[in-house]
Amino acid sequence: MNHFDYHDDALNCEQVSLTELADTVGTPLYVYSSATLERHYNVFADALSSKPGLRSPRDEAPLVAYAMKANSNMGVLATLAAQGCGADTVSEGEIRKALKAGVPANRIVFSGVGKTDAEMAFALKDGIYQLNVESRPELERLARVAAELNMVAPFVIRINPGVGAGGHEKITTGGAKDKFGISAEEALSLYAGAAGHPNLAPMGIACHIGSQILDLKPLQEAFTRMRGWVEQLRANGLSVERLDLGGGLGVPYFNQKEPATIADYADMTALAVGNLGVRYTFEPGRLIAANAGVLISRVIHVHEREDSGQQFLVLDAAMNDLLRPALYDAFHDIRPVARPGNETAKYDVVGPICETGDTFTRGRDMPVMKAGDLVAFMSAGAYGAVMGSEYNSRPLAPEVLVRDADWSIVRPRPSYDEMMAREPIPAWFTPAPK
Ligand code: LLP
Repeated sequence: MNHFDYHDDALNCEQVSLTELADTVGTPLYVYSSATLERHYNVFADALSSKPGLRSPRDEAPLVAYAMKANSNMGVLATLAAQGCGADTVSEGEIRKALKAGVPANRIVFSGVGKTDAEMAFALKDGIYQLNVESRPELERLARVAAELNMVAPFVIRINPGVGAGGHEKITTGGAKDKFGISAEEALSLYAGAAGHPNLAPMGIACHIGSQILDLKPLQEAFTRMRGWVEQLRANGLSVERLDLGGGLGVPYFNQKEPATIADYADMTALAVGNLGVRYTFEPGRLIAANAGVLISRVIHVHEREDSGQQFLVLDAAMNDLLRPALYDAFHDIRPVARPGNETAKYDVVGPICETGDTFTRGRDMPVMKAGDLVAFMSAGAYGAVMGSEYNSRPLAPEVLVRDADWSIVRPRPSYDEMMAREPIPAWFTPAPK
């Protein structure tokens, strides 16, 4: 469920008209709904914490660490932090943003296959909840960095459970040949080795098998294997206090079968890995942010090719603003912002960037559009603005956060002067003073 609906003949975000926002802020622009972000977080967190088997021995609810790579805008983070949400981070930049937006350090998880020594040191000094270690060399470096700081590093080992899943091969992470995590066998031996180390505190294990997973089966398979490994570690005399089950539950993009519901996910999880006497962590990203955001764009013109008869809807948004269709052939529903009539036409929807990849969709039946009309790319709140670039020297699209009838620019569009000031011309081109 989201808070983008037609009222008074225009698509609104909560009580704000997207037409008015586009006219005031300019296009292209991203718009996020606070109410949707909060709802998604709370529905997910409540579904899990209401399962007695997913509460920790101290009766703590699972830690929901929002995977902020999905949308790391500070306004979005602050909204979620105020609800009690944690953060799954993958860089020092993300840790800094999470802390600044109000996520307490003890709700921050640090994942990723290539954390630098400096990033590990930063995370340890800030007292984050745990580092999710993904390989042997990383664990060796973590031990050294922690020793240099005279600290004990709380970590879990990411096991690659050998079950890959996800909406596209580029976002599948749990397959045996993917770069993420290590085999259970290696993980168990590393865990045992770390148990006696003065600067390492092995807390448990983690997995994340992919993104945009619609079906619970692969998750259930991976979670069941995780249960087995927790039991094996304990049978080997090792203590296991935490289990991190990653993110990955898919969202509706309205072109494929509906994903499993959060309620079914919670039931499955409790059955597969409940009652292990651990503190559970979940890392949803897309689930929280995707349908909480849209990208608004204006039609520059409609170009009909005389030879093929194709109609190109040429927009002022491009692949630099929303990369997912070009990179993953991802589908985004494209709706007119003005309430549409009944007449439809077939469009190739494209941006102005000079390559064929800058195509959002081909031959899609849509309400008839004309120059100056506005369209909304739905489900663009996750992996949208964060994957934007200034390719073709197009300024980054601004971001707006809506709350009820109020809105705030949470990232302004840079001016051309600001863009150019970031790229100082070397002094040797400056004419010498006479
Ligand atoms: N945890 C880890 C360790 C991850 O690698 C990811 C996503 C998540 C959590 C969050 O997964 P989610 O709940 O969002 O599915 N750019 C791609 C998606 C890449 C996902 C990478 N990892 C896209 O636009 O579809």
